[in-house]
Amino acid sequence: MDHIDHMMTIIADAFDPHWGEAWTRRQLSDSLVLPTIFYRLIGGDGVAVPSGPGGHVPDEFVPAGFILTRHVRGEEELLLIAVRPGYRGRGLGFALMKCFEVDARNRGAVHLFLEMRINNPAEKLYRACGYLPVGKRRDYYRLKDGSSLDAVTFTRELT
Ligand SMILES: CC(C)(COP(=O)(O)OP(=O)(O)OC[C@H]1O[C@@H](n2cnc3c(N)ncnc32)[C@H](O)[C@@H]1OP(=O)(O)O)[C@@H](O)C(=O)NCCC(=O)NCCS
Repeated sequence: MDHIDHMMTIIADAFDPHWGEAWTRRQLSDSLVLPTIFYRLIGGDGVAVPSGPGGHVPDEFVPAGFILTRHVRGEEELLLIAVRPGYRGRGLGFALMKCFEVDARNRGAVHLFLEMRINNPAEKLYRACGYLPVGKRRDYYRLKDGSSLDAVTFTRELT
């Protein structure tokens, strides 16, 4: 299994189809060829594997979660974070957010941000990691049932 296979396994398990947040294999593979996109895969043992040359995963790797980010000129945005339901509540999401912070800083980021649908329970994790809400986009997400949801933007400055 390659990294995309592992990420697709996690996406299939972690995202509730109701919200339409899951990425397709095509979306993921198209994004990963861009030089601005980075990720970390985390195994059930809590070891986080980076994108790029350092990202070897052993055959026995058990994919538990991943984080996907985009870096543009000193700003890094969290695009996706997911942990499979059976591995939640053990700090893996927090560990991935820490990787995001450290990796983004090493890439020269000073401003981190993310956007989430309003009332996503992930907000607790984001606040625990020091992110604060700074804005709202009304009716930003369109759901399959025709309803819409606001997006909330969170930021964190790296000093
Ligand atoms: C959001 C998500 C990634 C969290 O993953 P997780 O592995 O359960 O997260 P954690 O265990 O690290 O964090 C959850 C909890 O620990 C807290 N936490 C964990 N480690 C911590 C630490 N060292 N210090 C402080 N708080 C910590 C979090 O605030 C939170 O509190 P709770 O246990 O009381 O609920 C996961 O629920 C998920 O995949 N959701 C579906 C996908 C999704 O909605 N993604 C976001 C949009 S892309």
